[in-house]
Order: sequence, then structure tokens, then C-alpha cells
Amino acid sequence: MAERLKARLSKSRICQKRIASSNLAPTVLKIMNQDWEKFAKTNPRYYIALDSCCEHDFWRKGEENFQNFILPVLEKYKIKRDSALDFGCGLGRYTFPLRKYFDNVVGVDVSDAMFDLARKEVVSRNIENVFLKNNEQFFGSDQKFDFIFCANVFQHIEQSEEIENIFAKFGNISIGYCYLQFDTRPIDFLYKIKMSLPDWLLPKAHRHGIRRIRRNAEWVRALSNWMGFDVIEEFNPNSKYHYFLLRSFIRH
Ligand SMILES: C[S@@+](CC[C@H](N)C(=O)[O-])C[C@H]1O[C@@H](n2cnc3c(N)ncnc32)[C@H](O)[C@@H]1O
Repeated sequence: MAERLKARLSKSRICQKRIASSNLAPTVLKIMNQDWEKFAKTNPRYYIALDSCCEHDFWRKGEENFQNFILPVLEKYKIKRDSALDFGCGLGRYTFPLRKYFDNVVGVDVSDAMFDLARKEVVSRNIENVFLKNNEQFFGSDQKFDFIFCANVFQHIEQSEEIENIFAKFGNISIGYCYLQFDTRPIDFLYKIKMSLPDWLLPKAHRHGIRRIRRNAEWVRALSNWMGFDVIEEFNPNSKYHYFLLRSFIRH
């Protein structure tokens, strides 16, 4: 298992530059795009934050989480204030609060429909320092960031290779810290059963595309190291909101 992981990661590392500057795994991205296209068109707020009861609650939770879990980290590590990336930004729940700390914030999303909704928010809020990009624009650009944030995204990506590709890109564009969330709850018997059931037997929130995929924290640490990051601190280990604070050790 460890050997397999090492071999795969080593391949990723060798391909790091090439992967990061190319159009990544088009088939996988297309599937992901289709899921989130559908979610964005049906009920985006529900699929982004299953626990928010109304629009006000949705935005309030984003603001609250920023104040309680993101801002303290930015301040503790005195992270440079120039630029931040919110990868898988959705409607901008974290992108907009991030602009209070950073001069410029880029939000990236794979879904065109989600992207359009986020753009409407930017226009209606008259925001000037938030820039939105789709995946194609993002992976085709070399823009560097002081802070890369990613919440509630990796947990929905089924293929680990896809996450490795995204990490490779982060390795190329990070000039500071990454703050990334994974679901690292134990992969127990009940979880395995749930994952093996067909969608029609499962409640909406547990179906393909939206259900949370658990990942081994050791795998996240190994991947981070291989992609050029030190793990600086971890928050809420073995939970669905396990955050990894990484710092790039590669000089760009
Ligand atoms: C659950 S939502 C989270 C949105 C936002 N981060 C938040 O917490 O409010 C997941 C978002 O990630 C986007 N996404 C999923 N896979 C992605 C990928 N491979 N690249 C970029 N965005 C992706 C989806 O389109 C969706 O908007």
C-alpha cells in the first residue's frame, strides 16, 4: 500500500510541472462539472451547505467561519496580505470574507453555472477586488498566491488522482501557505457499506457527487510533502472538518 502510494506520488511529482500547466484530466473534470452544473442549477445553497436553513444563514455561516477559523490563522502566521485563492469557491461564501484581509482574491470553480451565480454576487455587491476564474483559466495561468484556501471541495472528489493534480498545481503557484479541508473520519464498516450502496437506496445528501469521501490523513500529509509543502499545523483531526495548514518549502 505504502509502496503503491509512493510510486504514484513519485509519478505525480515527476509530472508536476507538466500536469500543472496542462488541461487536467478532462474526463474527470467533465464528470465533476456535470454534477456541480446540476447542483448549481437546482439548489446551489443546499448542495454547498447542507445545514443552512435559508439564504441569510448561508452567508452568515461563511462570515462566522471566516472570523472563527480562518482569520485567526491568517493573523497567527502573519500571512502576507497581497493575494489569496479560494479554490472551488462556489457562490463565494468564503471568497467575499477573504477580501477583507487580502488586497486581491481569486475564486475558481469548475462549474459554469456556479461561476455565473458567483459573478452575479460580485456585481450586485459592487466588489472590486474579487476575480473569478473557471478551471481552464486557472490551470492555464501562473499567478502566484500568498494563501490558498479550499473548503468542502476535496471531500467531494472521488478520484484521488484528481486531488493529486490539483495539489501539483498548488505546489507551482503557492508562495506562502495553503489551508485545506479534508474529511478524515475513520473509514469504518458503516461507511464502507454506505459507499457500496446504489444512489436510489440513499438519501439525497449521501448520493454520488455530493457525499463526503473520507481520506486517510497520512495520505494527505504524504501528498503535501511530495508536492513541496511542510505541514505546519492541523486543526480538528479525524473529523469532517480536518484542516491542514501547509507551507511551501520550494522557492519560486
Ligand atoms: C460544496 S461546494 C463548496 C463551495 C465553497 N468552497 C464553500 O464552502 O462555500 C463545492 C464547490 O467546489 C466546486 N468544485 C468541485 N470540484 C472542483 C474542481 N475539481 N475544481 C474546481 N472546483 C471544483 C464545485 O463546483 C462547487 O462549487
